[in-house]
Amino acid sequence: MSRGLAVVTGATAGIGREFAEQLGARGHDLLLVARDRQRLAATAESLASSHGVEVEAFPADLSRDDDVTRLVERLAASPRLALLVNNAGFGTRGRLAEADIELQEAMLRLHVLAPMRLARAALPALLARRDGGVINVSSVAGFIFSAGNVNYCATKAYLTTFSEGLAAELDGTGVRVQALCPGFTRTEFHARMTGPVERHPRFLWLSARSVVAYSLQCLERGGPVVCVPGFRWRLVVLAIRLTPRSLIGWVTRRQYSRV
Ligand SMILES: NC(=O)c1ccc[n+]([C@@H]2O[C@H](COP(=O)([O-])OP(=O)(O)OC[C@H]3O[C@@H](n4cnc5c(N)ncnc54)[C@H](OP(=O)(O)O)[C@@H]3O)[C@@H](O)[C@H]2O)c1
Repeated sequence: MSRGLAVVTGATAGIGREFAEQLGARGHDLLLVARDRQRLAATAESLASSHGVEVEAFPADLSRDDDVTRLVERLAASPRLALLVNNAGFGTRGRLAEADIELQEAMLRLHVLAPMRLARAALPALLARRDGGVINVSSVAGFIFSAGNVNYCATKAYLTTFSEGLAAELDGTGVRVQALCPGFTRTEFHARMTGPVERHPRFLWLSARSVVAYSLQCLERGGPVVCVPGFRWRLVVLAIRLTPRSLIGWVTRRQYSRV
């Protein structure tokens, strides 16, 4: 892929920070997005000096329509745009009946509306280049449904299906689309959540570095569209795909009643 501008949302921590790192190392100029201005400025400065690329910090809360509009306008004015990584996201725990509705609405805007609007804004420049791509950071959670995690699974299922449809639409144009579906990854994501803590087996955890390296390798090789890092997680996804939905319901009801 020829180098150009790479836009990464949620670029100050975890998977997004690692995308910024590995894309900077490949020689991409970067436009980085997150809410915390100070942390964003420090990230931009550190990446510019370690990789010798141009890095622009774009502070924005992508759960707000007006901030997404500002970024849409910035993308529309970027003919050098080569890659959009829709990564910013968060999780919640707890029953919908007791949930903070504003936070749930913010999740739907951040995981669904913002990536769709940003992809739409990026496409004209990508199609003109006949190159580059869009990576939507989804999750293994998008293959299941889960009590205590209702909207997280549903929004990630949207991102995966959206990516598969868009990839089909763009077939033959040179523009690639990926739904990156990691399992548990060591980032700030789990610590940022409040609510009952679930225990996850240690052997299933991935590093952000390996997740991002696999994602970029898949994109550069031209597929697959649904990219699941880690052999163990690919087995998990295969098992989920072979499991009746009624059994997934039984498992999640049992697990949630124990939390
Ligand atoms: N970690 C996992 O186990 C895991 C597994 C599967 C999928 N994922 C997905 O991977 C993506 C990245 O997660 P992560 O684990 O790297 O999380 P993380 O370490 O918590 O990082 C989240 C990043 O997103 C930014 N962000 C959060 N809300 C934002 C908003 N409203 N507007 C703009 N930026 C925002 C944060 O910066 P500010 O707070 O400064 O805005 C931060 O840079 C998410 O979409 C998540 O669903 C994670």
